[in-house]
Amino acid sequence: MKMWKISSFSLSVLLIFIICMINNPFSSAFAAAAASSDHELSSYFESTSCCLKNKETTAAETELIKSRNQSSSTRQKRRRSSQSEEPSDCTVWTKECSDELLCFAKKKENFEWIKSVRRRIHENPELAFEEYETSKLIREELEKMEISYRFPLAKTGIRATIGTGEPPFVAIRADMDALPIQEAVEWEHKSKIAGKMHACGHDAHVAMLIGAAKILKAREKYLKGTVILIFQPAEEAGNGAKRMIRDGVLENVEAIFAAHVSHQHRTGIIGSRPGPLLAGCGFFRAVISGKVGRAENPHRSVDPVLAASAAVISLQTIVSREANPLDSQVVSVTSFNAGDDLDSIPDTVILRGTFRAFSNTSFYQILTRIKQVISEQAKVFRCSATIDFFENKDTIYPPTVNEEYMYEHVRKVSVDLLGLENFRVVERMMGAEDFSFYTQEIPSAFFFIGIMNETLGSYHTGHSPHFMIDEDVLPVGAATHAAIAERYLYDRKL
Ligand SMILES: *[C@@H]1O[C@H](CO)[C@@H](O)[C@H](O)[C@H]1NC(C)=O
Ligand SMILES: *[C@@H]1O[C@H](CO)[C@@H](O)[C@H](O)[C@H]1NC(C)=O
Ligand SMILES: *[C@@H]1O[C@H](CO)[C@@H](O)[C@H](O)[C@H]1NC(C)=O
Repeated sequence: MKMWKISSFSLSVLLIFIICMINNPFSSAFAAAAASSDHELSSYFESTSCCLKNKETTAAETELIKSRNQSSSTRQKRRRSSQSEEPSDCTVWTKECSDELLCFAKKKENFEWIKSVRRRIHENPELAFEEYETSKLIREELEKMEISYRFPLAKTGIRATIGTGEPPFVAIRADMDALPIQEAVEWEHKSKIAGKMHACGHDAHVAMLIGAAKILKAREKYLKGTVILIFQPAEEAGNGAKRMIRDGVLENVEAIFAAHVSHQHRTGIIGSRPGPLLAGCGFFRAVISGKVGRAENPHRSVDPVLAASAAVISLQTIVSREANPLDSQVVSVTSFNAGDDLDSIPDTVILRGTFRAFSNTSFYQILTRIKQVISEQAKVFRCSATIDFFENKDTIYPPTVNEEYMYEHVRKVSVDLLGLENFRVVERMMGAEDFSFYTQEIPSAFFFIGIMNETLGSYHTGHSPHFMIDEDVLPVGAATHAAIAERYLYDRKL
């Protein structure tokens, strides 16, 4: 992939060079060079005019199309060379293309439709691996757009395909599940299911991806490869991503992107960062066993409370004494349960807690050390211990790490689409995402998209019963997803 970066860069330099050189009408050498790259030039040209389709064209733009439409190639060349006077117009993907994607997404009927998709899903939230109606709704919308898909993967998951059907394959992913939370927001489209709510914005994630599907389908003939849309179950619980991968969702796919709404940024602002973005997250449950006995005769018992207390203290030294201070890590014991008889020493203590880290190595090192510290501390006090990390229950998430040039792609596309002022390099976060399973397989990037609007009241954190989103984010998210995918294929083919 590094090679692709280098070659795409040098090719675009070459292309800029050629376009700029056509400026000089006296040089036959340059004309020959132009002819040899005619294919590149015409595809550039077509894509520019395709970008103008479906748009209510202004008089100036109509003039532009007319001038492009001239059969005389000299006329076309002049048009291109006049573009070359501005360096930014020498790039293969123009700002016009980005504008067109955004404009298409924001068209009234498209916006209304994306919103209605989101609202229907919001009204009927379904928990992990139970997303039957959500999945059905998505499939119906895909069918209406004549987009083919594979179903089911991971029980309710969908893998839809747009484009040539040929490599390269790039994927964009949305998660579909809701949370066991009672919605506290009073509005027209409040959750109709008691005790369940889309309190983490997955309804918006699905709607934005469906919106991207519509944009990409409308531009299918311009796609230089295949876009895979992944609708994944069970992000909140159950590691849906892992099962989707097991069921072949990444077949042929060489890169993957996904977004998460964020109440920390104003509506439509994109945020991401290269390298580790979200922490790896694991949980543990340790049973420390001693020997039950009367409290007034401690020598006849083996006290697990003391052993567990020593273990809690020692666990705190993993981060403070063993971790590089520049490599953020957390170990927290969150539950300590023993007997309830004030007059006797219990036979067991159950310790529970969680741990986080930003590198795969640190993450698994903490896991190993938690196991060692608890079992060795138990031994010091003549107890024994068993430790469970729930690996079979799928509650371990590795860190989400953005590949550097995949992040760079997100940044480039977002800035072009929404402007430099609407992109942020964000801090790492201790939260976890099962998108991390994809990041372990292929180059990937995860990014945030702001939904915060104080007037509207959409400033509550995810997993809050007051959580709400600013629906103005939907077309922006749809266009961002579509542009990331389309432009990935475009750049890849240079
Ligand atoms: C472009 O040329 C074609 C064929 O010459 C013509 O049918 C079409 O109307 C022209 N389009 C514009 C925008 O001038
Ligand atoms: C992360 O570490 C685990 C355990 O050492 C290993 O099985 C896994 O392959 C690693 N993943 C990556 C992406 O390095
Ligand atoms: C917030 O939402 C209100 C109401 O929909 C809207 O008028 C306003 O423009 C939004 N503000 C921002 C910063 O998006």
